[in-house]
Order: sequence, then structure tokens, then C-alpha cells
Amino acid sequence: MATTRSTKSASVITSTVALKSAMAVSGLIMVGYLILHMYGNLKAFAGADAFNEYAHHLRTFGLPFLPYEGLLWVVRAVLVVAVILHAYAAITLWRRNRRAAGYVGNTRYQTKQHKRGRQRSYASFTMRWGGLTIALFIVFHILNLTTNTIHPGGSADTPYGKLHNSFDGQPVVWLVYVVAMIAVGFHLAHGFWSALTTLGQNFSPTRKASRWTGLAIALAAIITIGFLAPPTAILFFGLGD
Ligand code: HEM
Repeated sequence: MATTRSTKSASVITSTVALKSAMAVSGLIMVGYLILHMYGNLKAFAGADAFNEYAHHLRTFGLPFLPYEGLLWVVRAVLVVAVILHAYAAITLWRRNRRAAGYVGNTRYQTKQHKRGRQRSYASFTMRWGGLTIALFIVFHILNLTTNTIHPGGSADTPYGKLHNSFDGQPVVWLVYVVAMIAVGFHLAHGFWSALTTLGQNFSPTRKASRWTGLAIALAAIITIGFLAPPTAILFFGLGD
């Protein structure tokens, strides 16, 4: 069958392999950001000045060659592209998977384990519902700690003030962050391993035998615990009081 040049190149860009690769690369970019962000947050243990100085340094980095917040805007732009690519690829692949798996209405073909034709694996659950939870969290989080539009413990002018006010005497806000960070942890434990597999780094016959399984779980645990340490210390141990 004759195919035009444009449909050919479009199908290469939106092929399942290309979308999986886009998910893997955008996911790894976000993992890099999370590690740096978590490291920055841990400066809260060094005191308000150290934390604010770090936040200030991020904004003045490269002056006068870069404008004020120049680096931050580059990071923001890369993150926005990564998030859009990641979500677009996830939704497209999910739809394609549903069609290929022969769903009728809301149910799939029946198997012994899935008698009603509904299949839900641990991975599909954490990736889809976890991904949605994280997306909602990011919106709340930016309104809370960047713009400070949502400030249950009172607004503040400094990055440390916003952080401290958000968790000091605020168990509900803390709980929201705990749920979100657990979702991040599960999402990473599967997603990091999956990204490396997509990029051809996994040569093991089973997931258990893969050397990346342990690393993915360790990374997820470090990021979850590392992020939750400052809010927990503020709420329960009076950090910054
Ligand atoms: C307990 C967990 C977290 C805490 C305490 C926290 C803390 C903060 C703080 C204090 C800021 C403002 C920084 C500043 O104004 O200089 C911020 C910004 C931000 N955080 Fe988090 N964060 C957490 C988890 C996350 C996670 C899991 C993500 C991504 C999935 C994330 C994404 C962002 C983004 C995108 C910004 C905006 C950066 C900007 O453009 O200015 N954070 N966070």
C-alpha cells in the first residue's frame, strides 16, 4: 500500500516504541529533578538561613550572564515539556493497550484469575492511579509552596517561612504530602525499573533477577523518606520553632 511521506514520519514518532522511549526519557529527567529537589529540601535541617540562601542562589545563578531566575525558568520549561510528554505517552499507550487487549465496554476477556474480565495488576494500578495522584499533588504543591496561594498555616515571604508554616501544627497538610510521597515512591519503584528496561538496560529473564529492581526500590525509598523528613521534623519535632 502506498504511504505518503508525512504519514510515515508521523507513525514513527507515535509508534509504541517511540512513545515508550519518550516516557522513559521524560521520567528519568523528572527523577533527576526529584533528587536535586529533595537534596535542596534537606537544607531545612541546616536552618532557615541555609534554606533561604539555597533558594536565593537558585534564582541568582549565572548573574549577570543569565537573567534573574534564568536557570529556574530553563528548569521549569524542561519540566513542563517532560510532564506533557510523559502524560501524553501514558494516555496514548493506555488507550492503545485497551484496544489491543480486546476490551468490550469496560471489561476484558475473562481468565481464571480475572473472572469478571477486569484485570488490575500492581504495576498498572500504581502507574495509573499513582500518576493521577501525583499530577493533582503537583497542582496543589505549586499553589501551596511556590505561589503560596493555599497557605493553611499562614502566608510567608521566604521559602523557609512557606515551608515551616505549611507543616507547623498542620497534620492534614502533612497527611496530604505523606499520601503523595507514597504515591511517588510506588510510581518510582516501578517506573525507574521500567524506564531502564525500555532503554535496553535490562538483560534479566525475570524482574526478581534484574539488578535494577533493588536499585529502583532503594531510590524510591530514599526519595520518599528524604522528602518526608523536613515536614515530619517540622510537625512532630519542632524543627525551626
Ligand atoms: C514533602 C515533599 C516536598 C516538599 C516539602 C517540597 C517543597 C517545595 C518548596 C519549599 C518549594 C518552593 C521552593 C522555592 O520557592 O524556592 C517547592 C517547589 C516545587 N516543587 Fe516541591 N516539595 C516536595 C515534593 C515535590 C515533588 C514530589 C515534586 C514533583 C513531583 C515537586 C515539585 C515541585 C515543583 C515543580 C516546584 C516549583 C519550582 C518552581 O518552579 O519554582 N515537589 N517544593
